[in-house]
Amino acid sequence: VQETGFTLWFTGLSGSGKSTIANLLVKRFEEMGRYVELLDGDEVRLNLTKDLGFSKEDRDTNINRIAFVAKLLSRNGVIAITAAISPYSEARQRARGQIENFVEVYVSAPLKVCIDRDVKGLYAKALAGEIPNFTGVSDPYEVPTDAEIVVASHEQTPDESVEFILRRLAELELLRERVAA
Ligand SMILES: Nc1ncnc2c1ncn2[C@@H]1O[C@H](COP(=O)(O)OP(=O)(O)O)[C@@H](O)[C@H]1O
Ligand SMILES: [Mg+2]
Repeated sequence: VQETGFTLWFTGLSGSGKSTIANLLVKRFEEMGRYVELLDGDEVRLNLTKDLGFSKEDRDTNINRIAFVAKLLSRNGVIAITAAISPYSEARQRARGQIENFVEVYVSAPLKVCIDRDVKGLYAKALAGEIPNFTGVSDPYEVPTDAEIVVASHEQTPDESVEFILRRLAELELLRERVAA
């Protein structure tokens, strides 16, 4: 029997922890013997959406393309994980509407925490006015109101977030409960 594919749609500010948690999940799913593909925002923007910038229109197109690929993967039994900021709720809704098993994961962390982490040094530049349209600083982030899963990355470790997400997926009956050996 083919396993049920689904899409884990991460959303959250830059530096909130999407890529960190998504990469840990990839390992876990591989250990379970599942096919899994990560569509990470930064990597996607280097190839699939290399032609796009950060206007609202381009951000929407970026999300539409990611959603299209995630749909194709997850309807074939693959676990598709997307990890792009996806700041606009309307674009997330559109993705939700076209993907069968769509699970939105909001990685919440206060802007202040993300600025303090400043993983890529981009907040410093954005706050200095050097990057226009930077989410959270000079561009909107619409907080999700209907995410299936919310993890607070300033209150738990990445591993704790991973365990929580796996438990929720079992509750949603997208992952089989692991049978004790
Ligand atoms: N609970 C947590 N979950 C995820 N990342 C965390 C957590 N606590 C601290 N971090 C750190 O926060 C940063 C998140 O960066 P990253 O995963 O690249 O964010 P994003 O992909 O959302 O831009 C990493 O340096 C990571 O080590
Ligand atoms: Mg990332």
